[in-house]
Amino acid sequence: MLNKQTLKDFDLKGKRVLLRVDFNVPLNEQGNITSDKRIVEELPTIKYLIEKGAKTIICSHLGRPEGKEDPQYSLKPVVEKLSKLLKKPVLFTGKLVESETKKLIKAMEDGDILMLENLRFDPGEEENSPSFAKKLASVADIFCNDAFGVMHRSHASTVGVPALLPSCIGFLVEKEVKYLDKLTTRPKKPVVAILGGAKIKDKINMISNLFNFANTVLIGGAMAYTFLAARGYDIGKSNIEQDKIAIAKMLLDIAEEKNVKVLLPVDHVVAQEFSFMADSIVIPTKGFRPSDIGMDIGPRTIKQFKTEINKAKTIFWNGPMGVFEFKKFENGTKAIALAVAGASATTIVGGGDSAAALNKFELEKDITHISTGGGASLKYLEGRGLPGINVISDKIEVK
Ligand code: 3PG
Repeated sequence: MLNKQTLKDFDLKGKRVLLRVDFNVPLNEQGNITSDKRIVEELPTIKYLIEKGAKTIICSHLGRPEGKEDPQYSLKPVVEKLSKLLKKPVLFTGKLVESETKKLIKAMEDGDILMLENLRFDPGEEENSPSFAKKLASVADIFCNDAFGVMHRSHASTVGVPALLPSCIGFLVEKEVKYLDKLTTRPKKPVVAILGGAKIKDKINMISNLFNFANTVLIGGAMAYTFLAARGYDIGKSNIEQDKIAIAKMLLDIAEEKNVKVLLPVDHVVAQEFSFMADSIVIPTKGFRPSDIGMDIGPRTIKQFKTEINKAKTIFWNGPMGVFEFKKFENGTKAIALAVAGASATTIVGGGDSAAALNKFELEKDITHISTGGGASLKYLEGRGLPGINVISDKIEVK
């Protein structure tokens, strides 16, 4: 159980609270927000701060502007969206901590909200520069980190500032950790983990820790081909990580040692080219021709995976089963999304592409918890906490 200080441990009236959020939301070419989930999920924390009479200074990153000011990564559209959702003005200078911003902060009244410009416009943010952290900390009395999606990064605003101010986590981080902690330490069994997506490269530690609490692991998506290659199958021209075959084999050996059942696809929808218009056929795992590219899991695999999903009491899902962005190859991901959404188990989805798939198939409301942090939730599942959380002080025990 997480024992970190939360907003409820502070008297917030009249205090300047620097609130780190993750408003790294997707924008389309016109600069409009295409999913406001991360903003909506942050509202309980912001509303609580308003209600308690804090002066809230919000800071976030957006995209990867690499330490330079770049208007396409401005938080302006986010400020407008937040103001609409809160039905309240949100002050914005379009700057970080500069004289104009400082003046505005000085004039803030209890319950006011101000937002700083993109933290990553300053190279000090990602470099975790002490002087940038000091600058940020200088405008506040209390720091609250509610930016779950970026808790795995050791940046100035996530690990630098909390070393300089009394600090706590926000309600979103508390909620995220509640589900992930239960999943890793005391889940209702059987636990079925469903893994997909392109790469095992960034997921090796997570997968090996998964074997400590999952009973069954279902692997689909492009990563399944690396595992199939590790088991000695020919997988044609499917997209695999050649340099990770040995690691995939090692992971399969660990699973066996720990008595974890790992299911790989037994059939596949394959095409001759990676295209949304490509002709496709279904083949068994042993039937790959040299030119076949695996694009989705096949119907027998879907059936097997669904049988396991229906037996689960806890389900964790990360990564699509195929190229679900192409309608022709969305079947596997859609069938698994429907099965997870329809399961009576506690269902936890690790953000990123799986969250996008649930959104596409309009199944979000049927999931117990969809994480706002793809990378952060996977890092948490490695079992070593997250830098942005580890640095927050523990609750003070009252004896
Ligand atoms: C995310 O969207 O995963 C987080 O906001 C972190 O962004 P980053 O990968 O650019 O650090």
